[in-house]
Amino acid sequence: MLVLGIESSCDETGIAIYDSDKGLLAHTLHSQIELHSNYGGVVPELASRDHIKYIIPLIDQLLKDNSIAINSLDAIAYTSGPGLSGALLVGSSLAEALAFSLNIPSIPVHHLEGHLLSPMLEEDKPSFPFLALLVSGGHTQLIDVKNIGEYKILGDTLDDVAGEAFDKTAKLLGLGYPGGSALSELADKGTFKFELPKPLLKSHALNFSFSGLKTAVLTLVKKQEKLTNEVKADIAFAFQESITDVLVSKSIKALEETGYKSIVVSGGVGANKKLRDKLNSHSKKENFKVFFPKLEFCTDNGAMIALAGCLRAHLSSKK
Ligand code: KG4
Ligand code: ZN
Repeated sequence: MLVLGIESSCDETGIAIYDSDKGLLAHTLHSQIELHSNYGGVVPELASRDHIKYIIPLIDQLLKDNSIAINSLDAIAYTSGPGLSGALLVGSSLAEALAFSLNIPSIPVHHLEGHLLSPMLEEDKPSFPFLALLVSGGHTQLIDVKNIGEYKILGDTLDDVAGEAFDKTAKLLGLGYPGGSALSELADKGTFKFELPKPLLKSHALNFSFSGLKTAVLTLVKKQEKLTNEVKADIAFAFQESITDVLVSKSIKALEETGYKSIVVSGGVGANKKLRDKLNSHSKKENFKVFFPKLEFCTDNGAMIALAGCLRAHLSSKK
């Protein structure tokens, strides 16, 4: 089965072709980061207009570059939400129209399902059931993944999400938008000079709370006589230590509670090297396996949507 995947929920137009037998055949992405960076955040109307501009040329080019005839597609999967409504509408209306004209099914995919199944794009795939740590710009969740479509949220954020905390801290330190990866690069140049709170680290619940951490960074920034690059790096270091310690400790708690031996990490913050290193080193000591998507599939992309659509279609054909 050949599935075209379309992702347009926010500021990336992602297109991919997934084959149920051969895996991911091709993918392409147009990022709008530059377009929005002048505004310090995503401008929804600009996002929709940019998706309109790129979505058809990207599909055409991908099919052409890979010598795939459009009428050999068996289904079209697209992100149905959550996301910016105008941006979602561009992807969904194109997917529905194309599926209708080709007389093939369209498969609406929940964006987060795409993220949490994305480690299954890799050769070394997790098998069900597993625990998922979903850390994106919109979510921080621990999810019990029993099977495709059988998900139970075990922990969620009470306020800010991890990606938002990274982005807001990056903004405070004068880094661009979205600041997650820039902050992480800066943190790697820093050393242990400051201690920041690790919210809810000791609590038994699996929930997260990051708004206090952001306020603590603000207070720390204000206290500095001179905000030199070195001081900024040390603040970024402390922030990254706190947030990754909390994410890792809650993940281990959730593994203990579920008794699962596998955890997948997905979403943009899953690209964070410190988080990956800490989870990898714990996995050796505590005997669990950790699965990450490739860095390019941590942030929004069409491949995860094509994959999730294909798995969904396979599931419903068995019913
Ligand atoms: O999954 P994603 O692309 O979009 C959503 O669905 O939200 O995640 C975007 C988030 C942003 O907040 C971005 O700053 C963060 O992921 N991010 C990172 C890194 N790369 C992206 N955060 C920390 N470290 C990174 N290396
Ligand atoms: Zn996402």
